[in-house]
Amino acid sequence: MELSKKILSVKPSATLAIAAKAKEMKSRGIDVISLSAGEPDFDTPSFIKDAAIDALKKGQTKYTPVAGTLDLRQAVCRKLKRDQGLEFTPDQIVVGTGAKHAIFNVLFALLNPGDEVLIPSPYWLSYPEMVTVIGGTNVFLPATEATDLKITPDMLEKAITPRSKVLILNSPSNPTGMVYSKEELLALIAVLKKYPQVLVLSDEIYEKLVFDGLKHWSIAQLDPDIAKRTITVNGHSKAYAMTGWRLGYAACPEKSLAKAVESIQSHSTSNPVSFTQAGGVAALDKGDEEALKMKAVFEKRRDLFLSLLAKIECFKAVKPSGAFYIFVNVKKTGLSAFEVSKRLLEEAHVAVIPGEPFGSAEHIRLSYATSEQEIRTAVERMSAWVKKLSVSA
Ligand SMILES: Cc1ncc(COP(=O)(O)O)c(C=O)c1O
Repeated sequence: MELSKKILSVKPSATLAIAAKAKEMKSRGIDVISLSAGEPDFDTPSFIKDAAIDALKKGQTKYTPVAGTLDLRQAVCRKLKRDQGLEFTPDQIVVGTGAKHAIFNVLFALLNPGDEVLIPSPYWLSYPEMVTVIGGTNVFLPATEATDLKITPDMLEKAITPRSKVLILNSPSNPTGMVYSKEELLALIAVLKKYPQVLVLSDEIYEKLVFDGLKHWSIAQLDPDIAKRTITVNGHSKAYAMTGWRLGYAACPEKSLAKAVESIQSHSTSNPVSFTQAGGVAALDKGDEEALKMKAVFEKRRDLFLSLLAKIECFKAVKPSGAFYIFVNVKKTGLSAFEVSKRLLEEAHVAVIPGEPFGSAEHIRLSYATSEQEIRTAVERMSAWVKKLSVSA
């Protein structure tokens, strides 16, 4: 069967391929430890489940407005006001089936063929694939350890052309766990002010997971002009352990954009699932206490993980301040990230994600959305593997 040229230009998710191989090994009785999870290992807090069960029992089983119930969009507005000081009205909010869906629809509503999307690299692997399938052009801004894997104003300015349409910012970042400080964002804003045609898509899905007493900053809250051209995307998956519920939203600076996003959604998925939306309201209104508890566990695990990793020669981690990933430089092994990941899985029975699909052949992504015991055992196995590698080299 002949597939469309568009779909042939899209790479299947490498994350899922590793997960599938690890699962297949487990089914053969091999004790594989997975450091590949992209989701919290906690259950959704019960008061959120109760709100959804209640909605089901009350018969909230029909179509809702495409952009989400008014209740949920009002809860999103309250959240953005409370946490970011941002003023939105419900007609500027479109709730989709996850932040991934919201990002896709926003890019679909904005991009014409050839429009350039500025993507700081390393990046979340879905951004470039979305841009490609929609017909935009990816422009990567490679950041290294020298700048803590974050872009600088200089890198941004050099990458901007008259075709630049959207800058995607993701703080805290998947895969690096890096968090942009207020000062760093203000420095990027100073550049953006010179180029009024550049919009910002700010993906804040890991907002609630910021460590070391740092504060999460939304770029839109730092400058009223930038707020007028920033689309803030967020969702329930990571903050409230709700990945399977599929709830995420875009807050649009202009109602016309929200209408366009809603229109695309109306012809594809329609509304997010009706009764999950009631859970979504409960999470946004009352979920912060639970989110804080989960954050404390993640922060403890991060500290443990970093202290153990420090003992592995050839593995160099940049300390992350957020999310639940550590991006480890494995260049010193002399192998590509893909080879390291493949061999760690086959020889040490530890599943990690290679950096290539995130834009780096020098790094692997380790997730600590798993227990302390698994982290300890995984590090022991990786350490033994690296030692063998040095001996045979
Ligand atoms: C950076 C980033 N953005 C967006 C998403 C999408 O999250 P969801 O669609 O579950 O809301 C993810 C999920 O892994 C992510 O890592």
